[in-house]
Amino acid sequence: MSSNLTHEIDIVTVPVSKIDSVDFENLAFGSVFTDHMLVCDFREGQWHKPQIKPYEPFMIDPSAKVFHYGQAIFEGMKAYKTEQDEVWLFRPDQNLNRLNKSAVRMAMPEIPEDIFMSGLHQLINLERNWVKKGKGNTLYIRPFMIAIGSGVIAAPSTQYRFMIILSPAKSYYSGEVKVLIADHYSRAANGGIGAAKAAGNYSAQFYPTKLANDKGFQQVIWTDDATHTKLEEAGTMNVFFRINDTLYTAPISERILDGVTRKSLIALAQRDGIKVEERSVLVSELIEAAQNGSLKEIFGAGTAAVVNPISGFSYEEKFYEVPKQENSIALELKEKLTNIQYKLAEDTFGWTVKV
Ligand code: COI
Repeated sequence: MSSNLTHEIDIVTVPVSKIDSVDFENLAFGSVFTDHMLVCDFREGQWHKPQIKPYEPFMIDPSAKVFHYGQAIFEGMKAYKTEQDEVWLFRPDQNLNRLNKSAVRMAMPEIPEDIFMSGLHQLINLERNWVKKGKGNTLYIRPFMIAIGSGVIAAPSTQYRFMIILSPAKSYYSGEVKVLIADHYSRAANGGIGAAKAAGNYSAQFYPTKLANDKGFQQVIWTDDATHTKLEEAGTMNVFFRINDTLYTAPISERILDGVTRKSLIALAQRDGIKVEERSVLVSELIEAAQNGSLKEIFGAGTAAVVNPISGFSYEEKFYEVPKQENSIALELKEKLTNIQYKLAEDTFGWTVKV
């Protein structure tokens, strides 16, 4: 990593850490935050000096554009600790690239690489005790940017706040994940903001996902908005389908998030001779595969969810179970990916970055 990690940051630390009050064995995802956060403001056309300060609420004007027009974007990343007490990041350059693509799409300013990388490294270094050892323990990293400029005129803000907050995390989902395939609601449309990690992409899913939850499904698998025939992605993850011995996942498009876990799994599969095709799978193909027994696995892939097997899906009120596999490619890829992330296997791709 060639970034300059020494960008000057003002640092104010807490007098006493709250770490001893945290039950690291029973963490609901994203509910506990570390002692400090990074804050960096954009005003008068430029980014100002970043600060690391105690994690605390802050005040912004009630007319701030984030509240009225949803100018808000975010990223999801993780830090991992080895048995030797080293802390590592996974492909942080990919998150910065995607954050800046999201920023452009939402008419927000891009974050300079040295602010992002220095802020990330210095904040995590300060909070390294919050990264626990052992596979499954991670520190979830949430960089985000909001429009803080005041005034309800419907135009981009001139003031923004970039922040990073950190949350110790285990798994996102507990228990099996069943999904409902969308046949009416849509997550994204061509020309829209589906490829951006914009807050509104997630809130727009809450209502249809709640309807799915009420029927006993944890997630919705979105289909293309025009025809609802092509399988695209799930609310919190990209999706892979294994039909016989080939993995299929939807190609990146204006409607699909360019997932870091997704592309890492594709690279791992290609390296190890697992057949993988980036092409749209039709809902009709999936149902046929489920009926004739060639559908072997469905799994989600994302930073928070890692690799999450999907045990069944429902389409037009009919449920199709995905049988458990003796030799699961999902679990094989998960093992390979997490071994790289925890430095238990050689990182031949150069994906890991030491803090
Ligand atoms: C992530 O996987 O990091 C995400 O951003 C998904 C989020 C909804 C938890």
